[in-house]
Amino acid sequence: MLQDEVKIISLPKILDDRGNLSFFQNDDHIPFVIQRAYWIYDVPGGEHRGGHAYRDLQEVIVALSGSFDVVVDDGKEKKVITLNRSYNALYIPKMIWRRMENFSTNSLAFIVCDKQYDEGQYIRDYDTYRNLKADEDDI
Ligand code: TYD
Repeated sequence: MLQDEVKIISLPKILDDRGNLSFFQNDDHIPFVIQRAYWIYDVPGGEHRGGHAYRDLQEVIVALSGSFDVVVDDGKEKKVITLNRSYNALYIPKMIWRRMENFSTNSLAFIVCDKQYDEGQYIRDYDTYRNLKADEDDI
């Protein structure tokens, strides 16, 4: 079930009158070794990013600033997860269709994953994804 795979990881919150601090580190909070980090910013109103699945790549997404929705879909079930707190990290395993939308002004999406960039990892066509997923479920 989708809920068993995609999950929110609660990150540490060090509350301080001078300003709060959160962090993550390998092994303790992130269930993979981080190989790459990237961020998405200056998203114009109404735009979306993503809209693909990865063949063999896990990721964690954090809204460092502002808010946006991540629509996750395992081919059977679809769920919208709103990220709007910098201490909540969304874990997405491989072979989940995901799309990011509804970005607020000045929102900042920070993503870490377990693989270096490789276009070959991407499944960009939804029907292809559904077929691959159905084959996977048959095994
Ligand atoms: P992409 O992940 O395809 O974003 P979206 O699914 O929102 O369109 O990234 C857009 C382009 O940026 C991609 O074609 C290549 C480049 N890119 C890199 O070079 N390195 C990276 O780590 C990422 C995420 C993207």
